[in-house]
Amino acid sequence: MRARASLATLLAAGLLLPAAASAQQADGERLFRQRCGACHSMEPGQNRAGPHLSGVIGRLAGSIEGARYSAALRESNIVWDSSSLDTFLTAPRQMVPGTQMTVGVSNAAQRAAIITYLEGAGVK
Ligand code: HEC
Repeated sequence: MRARASLATLLAAGLLLPAAASAQQADGERLFRQRCGACHSMEPGQNRAGPHLSGVIGRLAGSIEGARYSAALRESNIVWDSSSLDTFLTAPRQMVPGTQMTVGVSNAAQRAAIITYLEGAGVK
């Protein structure tokens, strides 16, 4: 019973997300500020504990000049797109053993919202 109810909730969320893209993006911006903003800026050139994430979509992992990266990420050859970001954010150390980014986002809807925000914010 309980499993079926939560599956229905997940399906409903999946169906609603594409239709509510702009609401999702606002949500993504809020989530980004809460969950990522302490370590990541969206301003080019502003690196904090982590590299800035402006224009991260299509970017080669570990490629921002002046940012501090682990060898693991620099040598990963990952290109960030919605799919690789989703895998990374689910479990960073599983995708890139040795990465210094250790925080993941376990909630799939929240990951999707954050990635939608990153996609939109890169196209300024
Ligand atoms: C506690 C600080 C911290 C938090 C919070 C954090 N990150 Fe990171 N992030 C890092 C560090 C440090 C790196 C560099 C990791 C490495 O070199 O192994 C990184 C790397 C990344 C990269 C790779 C960038 C590149 O240039 O290759 C992406 C993408 C990323 N983080 C996204 C996120 C997102 C999205 C969030 C929020 C859900 C987040 N991070 C939260 C510290 C953090």
